[in-house]
Formats: sequence, C-alpha cells, structure tokens
Amino acid sequence: MPKVKNKIIKKVQEKKAKVAGVPELINEPIKSNKKTPQLVRGFKDILPSEQKYFRFIGNRLESLAQDYGFEKIDPPILEETSLFSRAVGKETDIVSKEMFSFETPGGERVSLRPEATASVVRAYINHGMLNLPQPVKLYYTGPMFRYERPQSGRYRQFSQFGFEILGDKHPVLDAQLIILANNFFQEIGLKTSVQINSIGCAVCRKEYKTQLVNYYKTQKANLCVDCKERLYKNPLRLLDCKEEKCSIIKEEAPQIVDWLCDECKNHFVKVLEFLDEVQLPYNLNPSLVRGLDYYTNTVFEIWPEGEEKKSQSALCGGGRYDNLIELLGGRPTPALGVSVGIERTILKLKELNIEIPDREKRDIFVAQLGEAARKKCLPLYESLRKEGIRVAENFSKDGLKAQLEIAGKLGVRYSLILGQKELSEGTILLRDMEAGVQETLNFNKVIKEVKKRLENQ
Ligand code: HAM
Repeated sequence: MPKVKNKIIKKVQEKKAKVAGVPELINEPIKSNKKTPQLVRGFKDILPSEQKYFRFIGNRLESLAQDYGFEKIDPPILEETSLFSRAVGKETDIVSKEMFSFETPGGERVSLRPEATASVVRAYINHGMLNLPQPVKLYYTGPMFRYERPQSGRYRQFSQFGFEILGDKHPVLDAQLIILANNFFQEIGLKTSVQINSIGCAVCRKEYKTQLVNYYKTQKANLCVDCKERLYKNPLRLLDCKEEKCSIIKEEAPQIVDWLCDECKNHFVKVLEFLDEVQLPYNLNPSLVRGLDYYTNTVFEIWPEGEEKKSQSALCGGGRYDNLIELLGGRPTPALGVSVGIERTILKLKELNIEIPDREKRDIFVAQLGEAARKKCLPLYESLRKEGIRVAENFSKDGLKAQLEIAGKLGVRYSLILGQKELSEGTILLRDMEAGVQETLNFNKVIKEVKKRLENQ
C-alpha cells in the first residue's frame, strides 16, 4: 500500500514540476527504500516552495533593523558548552535536556547553539564592545538547535531572528523592543497579544522564591512529577507548568509583582507607561517567567491572538538580562533582547492564508524552437539580462507549448519566440501574453523594442 501511495505522490510532483518549470516539491518526504538516507528526526529540508516565506521575513527583518538602528552580527553555530550552561542555566530544560553537545577530536566540549543571546554577549565582551558608545544594538538570524520532542511548531533545528541592546538600563528600551517586535507581527498581518511580567532582580526574586516554595510545599502531594522536581531545582518554572492540576494550584500562588523591590517596581511601571503612550495593549501575566535563567526585571512574549493556552504558541520571547554580561566575565552592564521563532511565524501565516509576495516578477520569457534557435537565444537572454530586463527562460525544453505554459505560470507580460522561420528571416516574434496577439520584430532591434514596450506599459 505505501508503495502505491508513494507512486501517486511522485506522479503529482512530476506533473506540478512540468507545469511550473521549477521543482515544486512536496514538503513531507516520501519514505523511499531503506538504502536512501532519511532526515534526522525533528530536522527539515527548507524546500524551494518554502523559501518565499523566509525571504519575506528576512526582508522585514532588514527593514526593521535599519529603522531602529541595529547592526548585524553572525556568531558561530558551535560554542563551548560552558557558555550555555553558565548563561542559560544548568537547571533549565534547554541546558539539562535539550542541547546537542559533543566532544571535538581535540577534546573540547562544544554544543550546537540552542539560542543566540549567550553568543552575542560573549562576542560583546570578547571584542571589547563595552568601550563603544552605548547602547550597542545588534541583530542576528540563523538556525538554533534544541533536542525537544518534535511536534507542530517545535523542531530540533529551527530559525530565529533576534535583536539585542547592550549597555543601557533605561525602561524606554524595554518598551521600544516590545513595540519593535509587535510591529513586525502587525506589519506581516498577524494579530497577536503581548504578554508581560517582571521577575525582579536577584534580591527581590530571592525573597519571592521563598514565598513561592513555601506555598507549593503545602500543595506538594497534588503536583505533577516534573513540578515536584522544579520545587527544589527551579521553583520559578512551577508557574510555567501546563499540566491541568498544576495550573489550578498556580492560581492561588503568590505573585512576583507583589514582592518587587522599589527599584524593580519603578522600572516595570515606567515600561508599562511607555507602552501606554503608544497605546499598545498588553496582558500583565503573573505566571510568565521564561525558560532561561538569565532574565531580570521585564520579561515578555508575543502570542498569536486567541492562542493563550498552548505551550508551543509563543511567536517570540525576550526580556532584560542585566546580570549576564558580568556573569560571563564582563563588567556589570545592563542589556535586553528578543528572539522571534521564524517557523512558528510561517506556520501562522499559512494557517491564516496570508498572501506572501512571490519572487520578483519576470517581465519577459525567451522561447526557442530547435537547436539553431537555442544557440541564438542563449546570448539574447544574456543581453536582455545585462540591460536590466527581468527575463526568464527554460532552454532545455523543446516544445513551444510547454515553454509558453511556463511563461504563463510566471505571469510574464511578453514572450519572445524564435523558430526556424524567424531564424532564416532575421526576425523574432513578440507575443503579448495577455492579449494573445503576436508581432514580428527585427532580431537586431529586439532589445530596443522590448525596452520601449516595457517602459510604455
Ligand atoms: P526562547 O523563548 O527560548 O527565547 O525562543 C524564542 C522563540 O523561538 C520562541 O518564542 C519560539 O517562537 C521559537 N522557538 C523556541 N524553541 C523552538 C523550537 N524547538 N522549534 C521552533 N521554534 C522554537 C530565546 O531563545 C532567547 N534567546 C530570547 C531572548 C533574546 N532573550 C533575550 N534576548
């Protein structure tokens, strides 16, 4: 049975490829015979049909970075394991369960990066960016790796883009970062809700943790297995548990905002006031604690509107990490950042059928009939391209019908057609694809004529 299904899928692929002229591959890989290597679980090919989404998001990212004054940084994908255990935290799920770590032949313990903030901070310290005018505003994009249980919206390799602001503690920056991230989703057509909380500084959080643990100890018998462990290893994460019985217990738990010291409270109030100034709605979410240990004060996530309850629904997350630079050996320096999950954003765009602009449109298609015509069309294509005309072709095809079908698919305005007759007469046909009419042009004047028509349309 699977063999028959595979055959049918293959036929559909072949048919699509014939019509489009470009490989329109189906995203779910066909299970082929055992000799063919398969994808590693949780990993994906990003096929040609997916690329327009990545291009679209990449373009939006570049324009946001320009508007808000961020410079690009490309940290490596592989880092010393200790960078993440120190920055993200030994007891976090990311470090304790989800890293792809191994030893190099030279004996170094390294990990594929599960996130990029730690790398940006390392680079900031390594390259003496502390001595540049502050804040230093950096952005990045690329793959991250986490050994999580794969499911929709959760992969073992996924892409993020992110913005980090290092060297300034003003609350206006917290608000501006949230505005920036929210603008990204608004501008690509997604409706979202901003979730925000403050988890205070080391001092007030310590006091709060004691209260939290005391409360949860009274409920210990009713907690899930993971939460029983969290109670001792990472109590803040108790608030993050999605198990129903733990959610009920959470409702009565002490809230951190009631335990913030004056400085942390003032900072948080100012962030909220700035958000109010731009009338950005937010949800004060007392159980938002984030899964990485480096945060201080403001934390936030942006969720798709109406999806507040799903655990893997956050489109982006971020916050302040005022102690991280010092923790990694730099001088005390406040900082904050946000990272957006690109695949999750794409899933949402697709779910809502939001139109994404395709590749830059082509204006003209060059079609040829026969080997002699092909030889003339190859340099003609190059000349048209050099003149800045957006031109397409499919020179390996023989039949005119197949070529014009491709031209139609690409939505070009004109096709140039060179056959035996035109070759011998020194002419070429120009077909208006919309009107379906053709005229004969002098081959030597074709570039000038095409330009004239494209300018007048
Ligand atoms: P994070 O919340 O771990 O934060 O990840 C940010 C976003 O990456 C998530 O909201 C989600 O969209 C996406 N994401 C995370 N894990 C997966 C996965 N397994 N599959 C697909 N998408 C995923 C950070 O990474 C921090 N570095 C954010 C930050 C920047 N904080 C300060 N600066």
